[in-house]
Amino acid sequence: MSLRRLSLALLLLAPGLLAQTPKQPTLQEALLAARADRVGTPGAEAAFRRLADAHGTPLYIYDQAHIQGQAAALKAAFGPRFPKLRILYALKANTNPAVIGLLRAEGLGAEVVSVGEIETALQVGYKGPEIMFTSSSKGPAELRRAIALGTVLNVDSMDELSQIQVEARRQKKQARISFRINPGVDPHTIHQINTGIAESKFGLHLQGGLAFKAYETAKGMPEVLIEGAHCHIGSQITETEGYLLTARKMLAFVKELKDKLDIRLGFLDLGGGLGIPYRDGQVVMSPEELAQALAPVWKEGVAAAGYEPTLWLEPGRFFVGGAGYLLVRVNTVKTTPLKTFVNVDAGFNTLMRPAMYQAYHRVRLIGRTADPLTVDIAGDVCETGDILAEGRLLPKAKAGDLVVILDAGAYGFSMSSEYNARPLAAEVLVSGNTAKVVRRRGQFKDLFRSAATAPK
Ligand code: LLP
Repeated sequence: MSLRRLSLALLLLAPGLLAQTPKQPTLQEALLAARADRVGTPGAEAAFRRLADAHGTPLYIYDQAHIQGQAAALKAAFGPRFPKLRILYALKANTNPAVIGLLRAEGLGAEVVSVGEIETALQVGYKGPEIMFTSSSKGPAELRRAIALGTVLNVDSMDELSQIQVEARRQKKQARISFRINPGVDPHTIHQINTGIAESKFGLHLQGGLAFKAYETAKGMPEVLIEGAHCHIGSQITETEGYLLTARKMLAFVKELKDKLDIRLGFLDLGGGLGIPYRDGQVVMSPEELAQALAPVWKEGVAAAGYEPTLWLEPGRFFVGGAGYLLVRVNTVKTTPLKTFVNVDAGFNTLMRPAMYQAYHRVRLIGRTADPLTVDIAGDVCETGDILAEGRLLPKAKAGDLVVILDAGAYGFSMSSEYNARPLAAEVLVSGNTAKVVRRRGQFKDLFRSAATAPK
């Protein structure tokens, strides 16, 4: 058969092929459609079904382009205004090695809070000296490992300082340190994540000269090398004010250290905490606004101090929060005399934020647009407080439907647990039209790990 005849035959067999088929969105476009509340369309629905069919639910989905875009935005805002700048990624927000790897490729350092996070950072390719270790309660094994690796220890108490001194002496090494300073600033965020206020457990207070005393003591210790000062005033901060106040206080402290103790710091770390919008239409401080507001405060402070330490920042949520989507499936729908519950196959074991902080996450019902009613999206954990989203107006849901929960990339999987003997969710990283499994779904055998070591 000639080529012409063959194509004619094909046309007769499949006239639909010639018709203008609507372009199917890529997986990444479907994620963006969810963000824009357009998941009622068949194309977006098909993309989410594809993900659920291939990987199951509950499923954490991360948008690679979003993570890279956030890193680029922060660098673009701060880079030109702060020539001496180092940005670290706070691993605790999302500890998936693939996610960390993306941020490492963007040139970011690693800020960690446990030896487990140190090991994770090493596994991704970080070297010990590129890591900053912050924790208010470091154990002996953690100190040992961090000192051996040449990691910067962000010291939180005088007790810790003397333990570091002993361990460094034992290892015949000089431990690299900074102190975490409690500046006594309220950034007006959720109480549980308000870390820089005077009553929080973190850091050495400027108040009462405790921070000053710490530097004075460390200066007399040949076993430690003072590299910087650190503070972190809280998380999900949406206004610039708290940062500006903190920067002023910390830069005045930098000057005091130089004037009174002749200590010059290599860096001043102003922490993380940059908030992201969790609600439709919510406007939060942009990196550009923060950088712009901070620049004159910084300039003035370093001029007064007489030298310029490198500005360090260490956000977590900002990079990964908006990149994450938690895809869940409806098990049942139930109407009680008071409410309608849409019961899904994930609970606070999978996403703890709503139960723990009354945090708001947008939810979208995939593929439906009709008969909206107000519902609670309820989790599958056996506790009354296990509500993922309360009082939401959504199209009418049916068993088997898919629901996507937005902005779940930060403190989502990293805070999840196997409570109620539910194995951990899977994680995929979406780039264009491909989804790569970056953590396999937990298995029942994971629940029985202890059985191997249980005493007979
Ligand atoms: N640096 C230090 C010392 C921190 O304690 C934290 C977060 C960060 C950096 C990163 O903060 P971010 O940029 O992500 O706001 N689980 C809570 C958030 C807890 C934050 C704890 N510290 C949540 O789900 O909202």
